[in-house]
Amino acid sequence: MTKAVAYATNKKLQKWITEIVELCEPDRIRWCNGSQQEYDKLCADMVASGTFIKLNPEKRPNSYLCRSDPSDVARVEDRTFICSEDKDDAGPTNNWMDPTEMRATLKSLFAGCMRGRTMYVVPFSMGPLGSPISHIGIQLTDSPYVVVSMRTMTRMGQSALDALGDGEFIPCLHSVGVPLEPGQADVPWPSNPTHKYIVHFPDDHSIVSFGSGYGGNALLGKKSFSLRIASMMGRKQGWLAEHMLILGAESPEGKKTYVAAAFPSACGKTNFSMLVPPKGFEGWKIHTIGDDIAWIKPGPDGTFRAINPEAGFFGVAAGTNLRSNPNAIHTIDRNVIFTNCALTDDGDVWWEGQTDVPPPHLIDWQGRDWTPASGRPAAHPNARFTVSTRQCPSFDAAWDDPEGVPISAFIFGGRLSTTFPLVFESRDWQSGVYWAATMGSEATSAAVGQAAIRRDPFAMLPFCGYNMADYWTHWLSMESKVARRPRIYRVNWFRKGDDGKFMWPGYGENMRVLKWIIDRVSGNAQDAVESPFGYMPHYKDMTWSGLEFSRERFERIMFVDRQEAVTEVEDQEKLFTKFGRRMPAALERERKNLLHKLLEGNFAHAAGMTRGDVNAKAF
Ligand code: OXD
Ligand code: MN
Repeated sequence: MTKAVAYATNKKLQKWITEIVELCEPDRIRWCNGSQQEYDKLCADMVASGTFIKLNPEKRPNSYLCRSDPSDVARVEDRTFICSEDKDDAGPTNNWMDPTEMRATLKSLFAGCMRGRTMYVVPFSMGPLGSPISHIGIQLTDSPYVVVSMRTMTRMGQSALDALGDGEFIPCLHSVGVPLEPGQADVPWPSNPTHKYIVHFPDDHSIVSFGSGYGGNALLGKKSFSLRIASMMGRKQGWLAEHMLILGAESPEGKKTYVAAAFPSACGKTNFSMLVPPKGFEGWKIHTIGDDIAWIKPGPDGTFRAINPEAGFFGVAAGTNLRSNPNAIHTIDRNVIFTNCALTDDGDVWWEGQTDVPPPHLIDWQGRDWTPASGRPAAHPNARFTVSTRQCPSFDAAWDDPEGVPISAFIFGGRLSTTFPLVFESRDWQSGVYWAATMGSEATSAAVGQAAIRRDPFAMLPFCGYNMADYWTHWLSMESKVARRPRIYRVNWFRKGDDGKFMWPGYGENMRVLKWIIDRVSGNAQDAVESPFGYMPHYKDMTWSGLEFSRERFERIMFVDRQEAVTEVEDQEKLFTKFGRRMPAALERERKNLLHKLLEGNFAHAAGMTRGDVNAKAF
């Protein structure tokens, strides 16, 4: 026991580790210092044990492929719990269990669960060391895959422990849930086939994860700490923990504007965060701070200051190629852990969409021979790369700035083939919160017609650590916390035309929308079109050089169809009524006012439209 706590001067940490060692009975305890040597040794051990395959160093230096168990390939939302005392505090969009009952269940699952294994103590900082916006966590885990991934995804090791001192930390307990009997051989990817729990306790802000070794289930600094627990902390302490990328756009004159943007999972956040400005934007630069999570606190200068608490990308490999995201391709050319990608015959990795023509032979993500005739994907659709943020060619040195960067705009967007225009600016903060609360993506990618929308408020549906209605109330209250409030935008890259094809080219061309947003927040392009949804750009105020995009096409992509809008706003009621008396009245008022405007035709540029006048232009 003395050895277990040898490195800890923090009393709370000593006590916690002592308890966990007694409960889990690991064979060994290893404190992680975060050094390159430690990382290399753990990777070499995993190559020896069959968990990792070292990739061809000429193709992909210092990189590994790992194959997970086929039953452990993604976040398990139905096994993710918020265990508040009162079920209503978790709200209707979270799974809940009584905390006393859950603690008892977990206690019996964790008893002896690390027998035959090493327990690693992983101190980590989410955010720049010593920043007033950062927070420290300690993860105890029996997975070396988690240790090496945490080293890439966070500021991990001795420096985080030093920064902790006697201060507060978030305890993150993790086990794959597969103890080894004496002499029992391990498997390459241990994970418990029957019991999986990803649990968050609001009373002491602790996290307990059992049974999975994969991604957000196991790298507890990411979704569990940086979103679920941090959102609870933010509510109490007056800040925001958001599922947002952060980027800075630098004009040819050298002026940098930072924005934070939320899109549901798998809607291109990583691509947008590393955008390469298209033809016509010579001299513009995009600087990447983060691709997934933002912590935002009111700063002394009257702005919202944002940091990316993470230090790496845990990006979806599928569809990543030189066209969709050249910066990601260059980021992952070395020092990468790939999970569930296919292996090429020359010792490199491949995934669907990496090249137009697949290689003639691969070993698929389950270790089986694969050819294009196999009729199944070679890589798992949720295959990932884990790589340091610093390797991104568009990496912004301000990523490590303890002050964070000032946010000028919040951007929200889903995947919607109809109804929603390319971009609009909300009338004010309150209507912006309403538009973020009601965002979503289509459940299916129907070609035309209104498909069912899976609401994903603020892209936080699986990540908000408390009642979503209280979260909206918190967002409404943040309006008064800064003098220089960011403006709020909705974007939609995915609108389809009558031919069922995407109307907008997307990817780097999204810069054109970003540029209009930057113009707006910098005081330019102020005579926008007023539509029922909010302010929209005039054709003349968008930058079109380098792209053929006619005025007529622009009008179609910006068009708000009255009947579709009415259907959308009526449908939002289903979401709002779920929250009963917790629902902030201001948002329901926003919805009703909009419905009234749409039905009465009572908004600028659309006077005279009546319900059913479906082809009328909104502006
Ligand atoms: C992620 C997600 O992995 O949002 O980032 O699911
Ligand atoms: Mn995400």
